[in-house]
Amino acid sequence: MAALTGRTALVTGASRGIGRAVALRLAAEGALVAVHYGGDDEAAKATVARIEEAGGRAFAVRARFGEEGAVDRLFRQLGTGLDGRGLDVLVNNAGISSGHSIGQVTADEWNRLLAVNVTSPFFVIQRALPLLNDGGRIVNIGSTASRFAVSTQIGYTVTKAALESLAPSLANELGRRGITVNTVAPGAVRTDLTAGYTSIPEVVAGIEAITALGRLGEVEDVADVVGFLAGPQGRWITGQTIDVSGGTYLGPIA
Ligand SMILES: NC(=O)c1ccc[n+]([C@@H]2O[C@H](COP(=O)([O-])OP(=O)(O)OC[C@H]3O[C@@H](n4cnc5c(N)ncnc54)[C@H](OP(=O)(O)O)[C@@H]3O)[C@@H](O)[C@H]2O)c1
Repeated sequence: MAALTGRTALVTGASRGIGRAVALRLAAEGALVAVHYGGDDEAAKATVARIEEAGGRAFAVRARFGEEGAVDRLFRQLGTGLDGRGLDVLVNNAGISSGHSIGQVTADEWNRLLAVNVTSPFFVIQRALPLLNDGGRIVNIGSTASRFAVSTQIGYTVTKAALESLAPSLANELGRRGITVNTVAPGAVRTDLTAGYTSIPEVVAGIEAITALGRLGEVEDVADVVGFLAGPQGRWITGQTIDVSGGTYLGPIA
């Protein structure tokens, strides 16, 4: 039997990129997956269709984080889709980036980064707690940006560090219910989010040069780790940040 048969999952930002790969992975393990997204209906439909074509089960949930009432809208649709079942796996993946240094970040940009990357997952977790079954899993998608200096992404870095800071406290609070809480921190992965620089060969070469495994990440590299944490084999890991970057910027490569 697949590891997540009979389980349910919510993956935020699952219409594209890493979130889509996570949704596909959890569905392949047998979970009924709520595919949350912000506005790209076609991409969300495509994620659901790919899951169903592979024999899995999924439904789409639309709510644009940062808009008034978005978390309420998400949970109304989630409740309908789960139809009385609890939630076993919550993956807070939806996120936005910004390529600005401190002198360029406007108040609007700062507020938007915090709203989407920090405030929304915080209140998604709060709302999910009564729904979460004992033995459940929370995985927040952080970034290596919180580990080393990337001055042109400083606003984004702050949001990812804030998100990462949730796991230890929540792990302590929820541990007696068997619920684990972890952060998965990818390095550079080829998605729409990073297309601006992953399409530039010199930038890619620079990242490869500081990465132990010598390449950029693919979405499946991240989804496999989330799938591991979400399944029974991840039961003894909690309150941690798991770096999923192929060893990016560990130190000089001889
Ligand atoms: N790619 C990387 O190199 C990398 C590295 C480290 C960490 N990460 C993190 O991994 C996560 C996923 O990144 P990605 O590269 O897969 O991004 P992506 O390809 O741009 O996909 C972003 C996903 O989030 C959703 N989303 C964006 N803004 C939203 C909003 N305001 N409300 C609701 N949903 C929203 C999008 O939905 P719509 O399509 O409907 O807008 C989409 O499903 C992010 O948290 C990112 O910070 C990525």
